[in-house]
Amino acid sequence: MNSVSVRQTRPEDIPALIALQADVYPDIPPWSQRRLREQLEVFPQGQMVAETKDGLVGCASSLIVLWDDWAESHNWKEITSSGTFDNHNPQGKTLYGAEVFVDPRLQGKGVGHLLYEGRRSLCRALNLKRIIACGRLPGYNKYADEMSAESYAQKVVWGDLIDPVLSFQIKEGFSYFGVIENYIPEDTESRGNASLIVWLNPDYDPSKPTIIPEKTAP
Ligand SMILES: CC(C)(COP(=O)(O)OP(=O)(O)OC[C@H]1O[C@@H](n2cnc3c(N)ncnc32)[C@H](O)[C@@H]1OP(=O)(O)O)[C@@H](O)C(=O)NCCC(=O)NCCS
Repeated sequence: MNSVSVRQTRPEDIPALIALQADVYPDIPPWSQRRLREQLEVFPQGQMVAETKDGLVGCASSLIVLWDDWAESHNWKEITSSGTFDNHNPQGKTLYGAEVFVDPRLQGKGVGHLLYEGRRSLCRALNLKRIIACGRLPGYNKYADEMSAESYAQKVVWGDLIDPVLSFQIKEGFSYFGVIENYIPEDTESRGNASLIVWLNPDYDPSKPTIIPEKTAP
Protein backbone atom coordinates (compact mmCIF):
# COMPACT_ATOMS: atom_id res chain seq x y z
CA MET A 1 0.00 0.00 0.00
CA ASN A 2 1.21 3.54 -0.79
CA SER A 3 1.94 5.76 2.19
CA VAL A 4 -1.18 7.09 3.88
CA SER A 5 -1.71 10.52 5.39
CA VAL A 6 -4.60 11.94 7.38
CA ARG A 7 -5.80 15.50 6.88
CA GLN A 8 -8.86 17.70 7.31
CA THR A 9 -11.60 17.02 4.77
CA ARG A 10 -12.05 19.63 2.02
CA PRO A 11 -15.26 20.40 0.11
CA GLU A 12 -13.69 19.02 -3.09
CA ASP A 13 -13.30 15.59 -1.38
CA ILE A 14 -17.07 15.15 -1.10
CA PRO A 15 -17.80 13.22 -4.35
CA ALA A 16 -14.95 10.75 -3.70
CA LEU A 17 -16.05 10.37 -0.09
CA ILE A 18 -19.59 9.48 -1.14
CA ALA A 19 -18.27 6.89 -3.62
CA LEU A 20 -16.05 5.37 -0.93
CA GLN A 21 -18.89 5.22 1.58
CA ALA A 22 -21.05 3.41 -0.98
CA ASP A 23 -18.26 0.82 -1.37
CA VAL A 24 -18.02 0.33 2.40
CA TYR A 25 -21.78 0.07 3.04
CA PRO A 26 -23.37 -1.32 -0.16
CA ASP A 27 -26.72 -1.81 1.61
CA ILE A 28 -27.00 1.61 3.26
CA PRO A 29 -27.51 4.83 1.26
CA PRO A 30 -24.39 7.05 1.52
CA TRP A 31 -24.47 10.58 2.90
CA SER A 32 -25.65 13.27 0.51
CA GLN A 33 -23.37 16.05 -0.75
CA ARG A 34 -25.45 18.48 1.27
CA ARG A 35 -25.04 16.53 4.50
CA LEU A 36 -21.26 16.35 4.10
CA ARG A 37 -21.11 20.07 3.33
CA GLU A 38 -23.14 20.77 6.47
CA GLN A 39 -20.75 18.66 8.60
CA LEU A 40 -17.78 20.57 7.19
CA GLU A 41 -19.42 23.92 7.83
CA VAL A 42 -20.37 23.05 11.41
CA PHE A 43 -17.03 21.60 12.55
CA PRO A 44 -14.35 21.48 9.84
CA GLN A 45 -11.57 20.33 12.23
CA GLY A 46 -13.62 17.27 13.17
CA GLN A 47 -13.87 15.96 9.61
CA MET A 48 -10.85 13.93 8.48
CA VAL A 49 -9.89 11.81 5.52
CA ALA A 50 -7.07 9.36 4.94
CA GLU A 51 -5.47 9.46 1.50
CA THR A 52 -2.75 7.90 -0.59
CA LYS A 53 -1.38 9.36 -3.79
CA ASP A 54 -4.14 7.41 -5.58
CA GLY A 55 -6.99 9.07 -3.67
CA LEU A 56 -9.13 8.81 -0.55
CA VAL A 57 -8.99 5.57 1.44
CA GLY A 58 -10.84 6.40 4.65
CA CYS A 59 -12.79 8.90 6.68
CA ALA A 60 -13.47 9.81 10.32
CA SER A 61 -16.08 12.38 11.27
CA SER A 62 -16.75 13.84 14.70
CA LEU A 63 -18.60 16.55 16.55
CA ILE A 64 -18.29 18.02 20.05
CA VAL A 65 -21.15 17.36 22.46
CA LEU A 66 -22.20 18.14 26.02
CA TRP A 67 -22.14 14.51 27.07
CA ASP A 68 -24.48 14.98 30.03
CA ASP A 69 -27.24 15.78 27.55
CA TRP A 70 -26.87 12.36 25.92
CA ALA A 71 -25.39 9.98 28.51
CA GLU A 72 -28.70 8.57 29.67
CA SER A 73 -30.05 7.69 26.27
CA HIS A 74 -29.37 8.47 22.63
CA ASN A 75 -29.20 6.96 19.19
CA TRP A 76 -27.13 7.91 16.15
CA LYS A 77 -29.88 9.99 14.56
CA GLU A 78 -30.49 12.03 17.70
CA ILE A 79 -26.90 12.78 18.68
CA THR A 80 -25.81 13.70 15.16
CA SER A 81 -29.04 15.58 14.31
CA SER A 82 -29.65 13.12 11.46
CA GLY A 83 -26.06 13.53 10.30
CA THR A 84 -26.18 17.34 10.00
CA PHE A 85 -24.11 17.76 13.21
CA ASP A 86 -26.42 20.59 14.26
CA ASN A 87 -25.96 19.37 17.85
CA HIS A 88 -22.27 20.24 17.67
CA ASN A 89 -21.58 22.28 20.80
CA PRO A 90 -18.11 23.81 21.23
CA GLN A 91 -18.89 24.30 24.95
CA GLY A 92 -18.76 20.52 25.38
CA LYS A 93 -15.76 18.51 26.53
CA THR A 94 -16.46 15.36 24.55
CA LEU A 95 -15.39 14.60 21.02
CA TYR A 96 -18.07 12.27 19.68
CA GLY A 97 -17.14 9.90 16.88
CA ALA A 98 -20.00 9.85 14.38
CA GLU A 99 -18.44 7.69 11.67
CA VAL A 100 -15.23 5.97 10.65
CA PHE A 101 -14.62 3.81 7.63
CA VAL A 102 -11.79 2.50 5.49
CA ASP A 103 -11.76 1.33 1.88
CA PRO A 104 -12.73 -2.38 2.07
CA ARG A 105 -9.67 -3.29 -0.05
CA LEU A 106 -7.37 -1.67 2.51
CA GLN A 107 -8.94 -2.69 5.81
CA GLY A 108 -6.59 -4.32 8.31
CA LYS A 109 -3.55 -2.38 7.06
CA GLY A 110 -3.38 0.38 9.64
CA VAL A 111 -5.52 3.08 7.98
CA GLY A 112 -8.14 2.99 10.75
CA HIS A 113 -5.35 3.33 13.28
CA LEU A 114 -4.11 6.51 11.55
CA LEU A 115 -7.62 7.96 11.53
CA TYR A 116 -8.00 7.18 15.24
CA GLU A 117 -4.60 8.79 15.84
CA GLY A 118 -5.95 11.86 14.05
CA ARG A 119 -8.96 11.92 16.36
CA ARG A 120 -6.80 11.55 19.47
CA SER A 121 -4.51 14.37 18.26
CA LEU A 122 -7.53 16.62 17.75
CA CYS A 123 -8.84 15.75 21.23
CA ARG A 124 -5.47 16.68 22.73
CA ALA A 125 -5.08 19.84 20.63
CA LEU A 126 -8.49 21.15 21.72
CA ASN A 127 -7.95 20.13 25.37
CA LEU A 128 -11.07 17.97 25.32
CA LYS A 129 -11.62 15.47 28.10
CA ARG A 130 -12.42 12.37 26.05
CA ILE A 131 -13.60 10.69 22.91
CA ILE A 132 -16.88 8.80 23.08
CA ALA A 133 -18.37 6.76 20.28
CA CYS A 134 -20.94 4.05 19.72
CA GLY A 135 -19.43 1.40 17.52
CA ARG A 136 -21.33 -0.96 15.26
CA LEU A 137 -21.24 -4.64 16.21
CA PRO A 138 -21.28 -6.19 12.73
CA GLY A 139 -20.20 -9.63 13.94
CA TYR A 140 -23.24 -9.95 16.21
CA ASN A 141 -25.65 -11.11 13.53
CA LYS A 142 -23.93 -14.51 13.40
CA TYR A 143 -24.43 -15.05 17.14
CA ALA A 144 -27.81 -13.39 17.64
CA ASP A 145 -29.67 -16.69 18.03
CA GLU A 146 -27.24 -17.86 20.69
CA MET A 147 -26.71 -14.86 22.95
CA SER A 148 -27.68 -11.28 23.72
CA ALA A 149 -25.74 -8.40 22.18
CA GLU A 150 -24.41 -7.59 25.66
CA SER A 151 -23.02 -11.13 26.11
CA TYR A 152 -21.53 -10.98 22.60
CA ALA A 153 -19.79 -7.66 23.28
CA GLN A 154 -18.47 -8.93 26.62
CA LYS A 155 -16.99 -11.98 24.92
CA VAL A 156 -15.30 -9.66 22.41
CA VAL A 157 -13.87 -7.54 25.24
CA TRP A 158 -12.66 -10.71 27.00
CA GLY A 159 -10.96 -11.82 23.78
CA ASP A 160 -13.12 -14.93 23.27
CA LEU A 161 -14.79 -13.57 20.10
CA ILE A 162 -13.60 -11.14 17.45
CA ASP A 163 -15.79 -8.35 16.14
CA PRO A 164 -14.52 -6.43 13.08
CA VAL A 165 -15.24 -3.07 14.74
CA LEU A 166 -15.20 -3.55 18.54
CA SER A 167 -11.97 -5.62 18.47
CA PHE A 168 -10.34 -2.78 16.52
CA GLN A 169 -11.58 -0.16 18.99
CA ILE A 170 -10.34 -2.15 22.02
CA LYS A 171 -6.96 -2.46 20.28
CA GLU A 172 -7.03 1.33 19.89
CA GLY A 173 -7.24 1.77 23.67
CA PHE A 174 -10.97 2.39 24.07
CA SER A 175 -12.89 1.04 27.04
CA TYR A 176 -16.27 -0.62 26.64
CA PHE A 177 -19.28 0.50 28.70
CA GLY A 178 -22.22 -1.52 27.45
CA VAL A 179 -24.58 -1.97 24.54
CA ILE A 180 -27.03 0.59 23.19
CA GLU A 181 -30.03 -0.98 21.48
CA ASN A 182 -31.66 0.60 18.42
CA TYR A 183 -28.65 2.84 17.89
CA ILE A 184 -28.89 2.47 14.10
CA PRO A 185 -32.05 0.39 13.51
CA GLU A 186 -31.17 -0.08 9.79
CA ASP A 187 -27.85 -1.73 10.70
CA THR A 188 -28.96 -5.33 10.23
CA GLU A 189 -25.48 -6.84 10.70
CA SER A 190 -25.39 -5.40 14.23
CA ARG A 191 -29.14 -5.95 14.68
CA GLY A 192 -29.31 -2.25 15.51
CA ASN A 193 -26.92 -2.59 18.45
CA ALA A 194 -23.82 -0.54 19.18
CA SER A 195 -21.17 -0.61 21.90
CA LEU A 196 -20.61 2.51 23.96
CA ILE A 197 -16.86 3.15 24.13
CA VAL A 198 -14.65 5.86 25.62
CA TRP A 199 -11.04 7.02 25.47
CA LEU A 200 -9.89 9.48 28.14
CA ASN A 201 -7.41 12.12 27.04
CA PRO A 202 -4.38 11.67 29.35
CA ASP A 203 -3.27 15.25 28.60
CA TYR A 204 -6.60 16.89 29.46
CA ASP A 205 -6.00 19.82 31.78
CA PRO A 206 -9.19 20.92 33.58
CA SER A 207 -7.49 24.14 34.73
CA LYS A 208 -7.25 25.26 31.11
CA PRO A 209 -10.13 26.09 28.81
CA THR A 210 -11.11 24.01 25.86
CA ILE A 211 -9.64 25.50 22.71
CA ILE A 212 -12.84 26.42 20.96
CA PRO A 213 -12.24 25.77 17.28
CA GLU A 214 -12.96 28.63 14.95
CA LYS A 215 -15.23 27.95 12.03
CA THR A 216 -12.58 28.44 9.41
CA ALA A 217 -12.99 26.82 6.03
CA PRO A 218 -10.73 23.79 5.53
C1 LIG B 1 -13.38 -0.66 11.64
C2 LIG B 1 -12.37 -0.09 10.63
C3 LIG B 1 -12.56 1.42 10.54
C4 LIG B 1 -10.95 -0.41 11.12
O1 LIG B 1 -10.02 0.15 10.23
P1 LIG B 1 -8.78 -0.74 9.69
O2 LIG B 1 -7.97 0.12 8.81
O3 LIG B 1 -9.34 -1.99 9.11
O4 LIG B 1 -8.01 -1.09 11.06
P2 LIG B 1 -6.43 -1.11 11.28
O5 LIG B 1 -5.82 -1.93 10.20
O6 LIG B 1 -5.92 0.26 11.46
O7 LIG B 1 -6.33 -1.88 12.66
C5 LIG B 1 -5.83 -1.27 13.85
C6 LIG B 1 -5.68 -2.35 14.89
O8 LIG B 1 -6.94 -3.00 15.14
C7 LIG B 1 -6.84 -4.38 14.84
N1 LIG B 1 -7.97 -4.83 14.04
C8 LIG B 1 -8.47 -4.24 12.94
N2 LIG B 1 -9.50 -4.94 12.45
C9 LIG B 1 -9.62 -6.01 13.27
C10 LIG B 1 -10.48 -7.15 13.29
N3 LIG B 1 -11.41 -7.32 12.35
N4 LIG B 1 -10.32 -8.03 14.27
C11 LIG B 1 -9.36 -7.89 15.22
N5 LIG B 1 -8.52 -6.85 15.26
C12 LIG B 1 -8.65 -5.94 14.29
C13 LIG B 1 -5.63 -4.54 13.95
O9 LIG B 1 -5.05 -5.81 14.14
C14 LIG B 1 -4.72 -3.43 14.38
O10 LIG B 1 -3.92 -3.82 15.47
P3 LIG B 1 -2.33 -4.01 15.23
O11 LIG B 1 -1.84 -2.63 14.88
O12 LIG B 1 -1.86 -4.49 16.54
O13 LIG B 1 -2.21 -4.96 14.11
C15 LIG B 1 -12.56 -0.73 9.23
O14 LIG B 1 -12.37 -2.11 9.30
C16 LIG B 1 -13.87 -0.42 8.54
O15 LIG B 1 -13.95 0.53 7.77
N6 LIG B 1 -14.95 -1.21 8.74
C17 LIG B 1 -16.21 -1.04 8.02
C18 LIG B 1 -16.92 0.25 8.39
C19 LIG B 1 -17.38 0.22 9.83
O16 LIG B 1 -18.11 -0.65 10.26
N7 LIG B 1 -16.95 1.24 10.59
C20 LIG B 1 -17.24 1.36 12.00
C21 LIG B 1 -18.33 2.31 12.24
S1 LIG B 1 -18.77 2.35 13.97
